[in-house]
Amino acid sequence: MDSGAPQQHGGRILVVDDEATMRRLLEKLLRLEGYDVALASSGEQALQEVFARGADTVLLDMRLPGMSGLDVCRNIRAHPRGTHTPIVFITAVNDRELRRKGMEAGADDFLSKPFDEVELLARIRNCVRVKRYYDNVEQQKGALARAVDDRTAELATVVSELTRIQNELRASHEETIYRLSRAAEFRDDETGQHLQRMSWYCHMIGSKIGLSPSTCELLRIASPMHDVGKLGIPDRILLKPGRLTPEEFTIMKTHAEIGYRILHGSTAAPLEMAAMIAHTHHEKWDGSGYPHGLRGEDIPLAGRIAAIADVFDALTSARPYKSAWPLEAALDLLRKSAGSHFDPHLVHVFLDNIDEVLAIRERFVDGTPAPHPEAAVVVH
Ligand code: C2E
Ligand code: SIN
Ligand code: SIN
Ligand code: SIN
Ligand code: FE
Ligand code: FE
Repeated sequence: MDSGAPQQHGGRILVVDDEATMRRLLEKLLRLEGYDVALASSGEQALQEVFARGADTVLLDMRLPGMSGLDVCRNIRAHPRGTHTPIVFITAVNDRELRRKGMEAGADDFLSKPFDEVELLARIRNCVRVKRYYDNVEQQKGALARAVDDRTAELATVVSELTRIQNELRASHEETIYRLSRAAEFRDDETGQHLQRMSWYCHMIGSKIGLSPSTCELLRIASPMHDVGKLGIPDRILLKPGRLTPEEFTIMKTHAEIGYRILHGSTAAPLEMAAMIAHTHHEKWDGSGYPHGLRGEDIPLAGRIAAIADVFDALTSARPYKSAWPLEAALDLLRKSAGSHFDPHLVHVFLDNIDEVLAIRERFVDGTPAPHPEAAVVVH
C-alpha cells in the first residue's frame, strides 16, 4: 500500500546509515535480490522518506549522528504510515541493553555488524512478508469501510425518499378523506368551509382539554366525516327549504347510523374515529339524542366534542332551511344547552377559548370572503 508499485519488485527497503560505504553495500545487495531501495544518511531524512513514501521494511543503524536510531524508531511507529512498517536495527556490537531499548521503541528484529548476507536477506524477506499481510488487511478494511459508507449513503437516500412518499401519501390520504366528506356536504353546503371550521374547532377543544397532539390531529382528520351518512338521505328531505315533518326528521336522523355503517370496521385509526364520531355526534348529554340515547360520559369523548363544534357551526351558518344566527345567539344556545345537550365542561372550554374559535371562523369564511359583522362583536 505504501510503496508505489509493490508487484514490480520485492518491496521497498529503506536503508538508514550514516556510513556511505555501508549504504552502498546494502543497496547493491538488496537491488540484486529485486528490492527497491531508498537511502537515508540521517534520522531526519529517514523520517521524511517514511512519512512521504512509506517503506516495506526499514534497515536502521542504531548509532546515528543527530537523532538517534531509537528516536527514529519511535517516530516511525507513532506515524500512521509507519505503524506496521517492520524495523530492523543494525547494531555494531551485540549490546543486550541497547537491544532491549530497541524492542521498547518498537523494533521488530536485530542484526549485528558485520552481518551475514544470507541471514540479512532471510530476515528482510520475512519482514516484507509481514508488511504485505498488514497491507492486505488494511486494504480490505478500507474497502469494507467504503462499502459500508456507500450502503449507508444509499440507505439514507432510500429513507428520505420513503419519508417523502409517506408524507405525500399522508397528504393525499387526508385530502381524499376531506373530498369524500365534501361529497356528503356538497348537497347542502356549497363551500365545504363548514368541514374545515368544524374540524379545527374539534382540534382546538381537544388540545385545550389536554389530549395528545396526535389525538387532536386524529380528531381534526376524522371529524369532517361526521355527516357522510347524509349521502343516504333523499334530496327532498335534506334540501327541504322549510321545517321537516316528524316523519322526515325520523329519516333524517338515520344519517348517524348510515355514516357509522359506511365508516366502521376499518383498522385505520382515522376511520375508526370517524365511525365513532358519525355514530355519536347527535347524542346528547342528558340522553335525549340519537341514535341510541346515550348519556353523559357513555357518549365517546370525540362525539361530545364533535357535537359542540357541529352545532355551533350549523347555527352560525346559513342552511337551506334556516339563515345564519348571529354569533351571540349561537353562544347563548351553547351556554343554555351545557348539561342538557352538551358536555358542560367542554362547553366551558369552548367558550373560554372564544378568541381561537373566532380566529378559525376568520380563516375559513364561506363563499367569497365577506365581512362578518358578528365577528367584530366582543363576547366576554
Ligand atoms: P345540520 O344543519 O348540520 O345541523 C346540525 C345540528 O345543529 C342539528 O342537529 C341541531 O342540533 C343544530 N341546529 C342546526 N340548526 C338549528 C336551529 O336552527 N336551531 C337549533 N336549535 N339547532 C339547530 P339535528 O337537529 O339533529 O339535525 C340534523 C340534520 O338534520 C341537520 O344538520 C340538517 O341537515 C337536518 N335538519 C334538521 N332540521 C331541519 C329542518 O327543519 N329542515 C331541513 N331541511 N333540514 C333539517
Ligand atoms: C351541512 O349541512 O353543510 C353540514 C351539516 C353538518 O355538518 O351537520
Ligand atoms: C373533558 O370533558 O375534559 C374530557 C374528559 C371526559 O369527559 O371524558
Ligand atoms: C359508536 O357508537 O359509534 C361506537 C362508540 C365507540 O366506538 O366507542
Ligand atoms: Fe349530523
Ligand atoms: Fe355537520
